[in-house]
Amino acid sequence: TIYFVDGLFMEKEEVTISIDDRGYYFGDGVYEVMKVYDGELFTSVEHLSRLFQSAAKIKMTIPYTETQLVDIAKELVKVNSIKTGHVYIQVTRGAAPRQHHFCEPATTPIVTAYAIQNPRPESKLQQGVGIKSVEDVRWLRCDIKSLNLLGNVLAKEEAHENGCFEALLHRGETVTEGSSSNMFGVKDGTVYSHPADTLILNGITRQVVLDLCKDNGIPVKEIAFTLEEAFEMDEFFLTSTTSEVMPVTTIDNRPVGTGVPGPITLTLQQAFISKIP
Ligand code: PDD
Repeated sequence: TIYFVDGLFMEKEEVTISIDDRGYYFGDGVYEVMKVYDGELFTSVEHLSRLFQSAAKIKMTIPYTETQLVDIAKELVKVNSIKTGHVYIQVTRGAAPRQHHFCEPATTPIVTAYAIQNPRPESKLQQGVGIKSVEDVRWLRCDIKSLNLLGNVLAKEEAHENGCFEALLHRGETVTEGSSSNMFGVKDGTVYSHPADTLILNGITRQVVLDLCKDNGIPVKEIAFTLEEAFEMDEFFLTSTTSEVMPVTTIDNRPVGTGVPGPITLTLQQAFISKIP
């Protein structure tokens, strides 16, 4: 497998990274995951633009342009012969002896990336998945796609240990998002999604789906709903780069609506599939 590391393409086995990298010490960096369908990057412009926004929010300058990073991602897809899968790109602040504040002179951010084969989760997309409610104890800048994912990791682990596909994060009463996805409820024909503020990551798939709602005349309210309201939704689904439009059929082992993927969910899922190459 060919990786991209700090300016060079190389075999995974040849990769060396400094033990002093701030990504390793502090999770001091940002990342993106973008989907590859039929050898083509999907919504790469949106992902790269969010990567640069995340970097700016943590006062980090990426030593490449968006176009250069798209070209690197395309090259990784090509040299690794990826048909259906994803590209992972991360940028850390770079290496310096461990101290919390940024260094002077500034460290050089390190870009690493790989492309991997990864099939679409077709049977789950058809049958739907179960999710588990977990208290959202993350920091208050969830709009940044930061490498610091301990809150997300622990939430996903709790869901996984309970046989669930994803954690339904809630801050007190308010549903925010998933550990690595965005959450949507459908009630009386209206799609509800937490507003894109600092408590959630504004998913690229989320944005595509909100556009698809518009195209299909499905009313949307970007307002937060409670965990209690989540249990009363007619339909529920989650979105992410790798999960697309994933029906949720149970929350905490309680069926959502009739316990099968709902009609609006399936309409959006089909509309999404018709957009992919
Ligand atoms: N996760 N919210 C969180 C916390 C996420 O980590 C993700 C993506 C999303 C969905 O965003 P998008 O639609 O742009 O993929 C929402 C990626 C896939 C990951 O960490 O693997």
